[in-house]
Amino acid sequence: MSQDRSIKIAPSILSADFANFGAEIRAIEAQGADWVHIDVMDNHFVPNLTFGPQAVAAFRPHVKTFMDVHLMISPVDPYIDAYAEAGADMITAHVEAESHIHRTLQAIRATGKMVGISLNPGTPLESIDYVLDLVDMVLLMTVNPGFGGQKFIESGVEKTRRLKRMIGDRPVLIQVDGGITPETAPAVVAAGADVLVAGSAVFKGGSAEAPEVYGENMRAIRAAAEGGR
Ligand code: DX5
Ligand code: ZN
Repeated sequence: MSQDRSIKIAPSILSADFANFGAEIRAIEAQGADWVHIDVMDNHFVPNLTFGPQAVAAFRPHVKTFMDVHLMISPVDPYIDAYAEAGADMITAHVEAESHIHRTLQAIRATGKMVGISLNPGTPLESIDYVLDLVDMVLLMTVNPGFGGQKFIESGVEKTRRLKRMIGDRPVLIQVDGGITPETAPAVVAAGADVLVAGSAVFKGGSAEAPEVYGENMRAIRAAAEGGR
């Protein structure tokens, strides 16, 4: 699947109705979401607190596509098995979150799940030079993590372009996360992004009772992104 370079839209349920996750997940998938992005936050690595393994396990039966778990927690290693058992398809850890990121990525691989590595906007690409062969995906943060609805940080475009060159022929996807909208999607896709995480731009104006708005929002992002290619 890492060879599949079609553009994927991964709505972040951080912008969903927190009292209605099952219906929200079913609604975005029925409306064309490719993946479901779960933002796990610990109020330590990032200034916000979200989903433990038990919550993620409760989402699992509703996700028919691909459950993409973005861990914004430090430490990571003690929780890898719990999120794997909760049913993640991909587990992404931050390079800034562990002193021994190589070991962390090996531990994720050992669970049989797909392996992602993420970088904050201020973290140089060189920090992943020696682990690129261990991952299926690199997630570039295009906002400082913690909250939905923030403004896209423009340096993410050039960073995506440089990462694409670094990856070369490797079967490694590029995911961008933060401030992705129909306005910002074309440039990151032109630079090489494969998977677009979007929270507020997908969920704005819709609800599980008015899911067609989610569909329109995702179509707008996808159409703009495909224009970027
Ligand atoms: C930010 C999270 C993102 C966030 C994106 O810490 O990792 O996934 O929910 O939200 P938007 O698309 O609203 O910037
Ligand atoms: Zn995320």
